[in-house]
Amino acid sequence: MQFIFFGTLFSGLLLVCAVTNDIEDASGETPGIVSQITEEQPHQRQKLYNWDYKDLGTIAFEDIPFPTLQPSQTIDQSENCPEGWIRYSDSCYWVETELLGFAKAERKCSEKQSTLFVANSIDEWEAIRGHSKDSFSSWIGLVRFSHYERSEQLPRWQTEGAVNPSKINWLIKPYSPLVNGWSQLANCAASYKSPASLETASYTYFYPCTYLFYSICERNSTIANSLH
Ligand SMILES: *[C@@H]1O[C@H](CO)[C@@H](O)[C@H](O)[C@H]1NC(C)=O
Repeated sequence: MQFIFFGTLFSGLLLVCAVTNDIEDASGETPGIVSQITEEQPHQRQKLYNWDYKDLGTIAFEDIPFPTLQPSQTIDQSENCPEGWIRYSDSCYWVETELLGFAKAERKCSEKQSTLFVANSIDEWEAIRGHSKDSFSSWIGLVRFSHYERSEQLPRWQTEGAVNPSKINWLIKPYSPLVNGWSQLANCAASYKSPASLETASYTYFYPCTYLFYSICERNSTIANSLH
């Protein structure tokens, strides 16, 4: 009985696939247009970010396509941040509590017109990492790419003007990549927030970028509005 059921289901799936293929074939130009958009879009990202889709395509990352850029509106957060966001200076921050790999976390921020959290001062770093969820690690916008390993000792923040990464709370100080978990397969930095009673036990460490963590997004109005 079960066997027959699965048999029917399977041929049903085959039929669906066949129909879908027919539709795609019939739609002529569409696939061409789609690939054109996905090829152009990373180029626009390069102006703003310290890394782009080519870096994200290395083995330690998931190679996922980015959404098409929305026609962006001017962001005015001089008064308030959107509901659920945290405010610090001219930036708004979103604590993402869906468990995501680094590349998906970055994309999720991008969909909210934000980047992963980049600290422009140690005060900002302390204030914002303190809002991430207790006893969890959260992705931040800090990566040491294997292909820059020879030329760069320090990891790269996602946007310009950030603090010297060696000054933040690495697990092992003074900072060096290897003692803090970095390897060819562990490029992405995450901030671990210890429970409040053990605050000094919070730290930053490198992990494989495919690990599933929380994440912190930052929408810096200066950066967001420099896009247009
Ligand atoms: C926002 O970005 C600008 C330009 O990089 C920077 O000077 C400023 O410190 C940032 N503000 C915050 C709160 O991150």
